[in-house]
Amino acid sequence: MADVEELKRKAGIEACKFVKSGMKVGLGTGSTVKHTVVELGRRMADEGLEIVGVPTSLATEKLAKEVGIKLVELSEIDGLDIVIDGADEYDPNFQLIKGGGAALLREKIVAQESSAMVVVADDRKRVETLGAFPLPIEVTPFSHEATVRALSRLLDCRVNIRMAGDGPVITDNGNMIADAHTGLKIVDPVSAEADILLIAGVVQVGLFNNMCDAVVLAGTNGVETVINPNGRL
Ligand code: 5RP
Repeated sequence: MADVEELKRKAGIEACKFVKSGMKVGLGTGSTVKHTVVELGRRMADEGLEIVGVPTSLATEKLAKEVGIKLVELSEIDGLDIVIDGADEYDPNFQLIKGGGAALLREKIVAQESSAMVVVADDRKRVETLGAFPLPIEVTPFSHEATVRALSRLLDCRVNIRMAGDGPVITDNGNMIADAHTGLKIVDPVSAEADILLIAGVVQVGLFNNMCDAVVLAGTNGVETVINPNGRL
């Protein structure tokens, strides 16, 4: 059986081919893209690669500092050349579900500021229809019960506040994550995103539509780069 961790490592490292000296790079969050961050740090130390990074979470910020990547704030620069990030699912139109690591808000802000987005994944993440993975939605702590009820009515499914032990998961932004168990039902992710964002207590939803330009996908037969024909790469 394929070692999933090894597949993640291969995809994470392969995606570094998109990064050239002088680039401003968004650094995603998760167990796959962490390999990208480590490899970028290695290339800076060993090969003279010169980049600056913008992390998408406190966890990635810590890792990037440990491996020697110079970090900047989005406010200091005028956009990013590329962001490399993980995903929980991607469909044939390169629409994504993200937020399994509770970092979707910063990830989406960074992706929105980037001229290109590359996703790193193992082949379990490729789906025909989004929604088997519970859709992560960042919500305000204020009246989160009401927001969960509104989401449940809208999506016609069970919605749970994500827990960690006895308490709710609190994001880097001080919010909570509601996971919507939609099932294989998100056939129109663009409309779903717009509808979900109309609910006042929703801060952001983990549907990343029309953002992904390529997926670096690791499977048992090797690593493959799938370019979005409608993308920017
Ligand atoms: C974090 C994310 C992650 O990128 C996503 O959950 C994939 O993570 P992993 O590579 O660990 O499976 O969206 O919010």
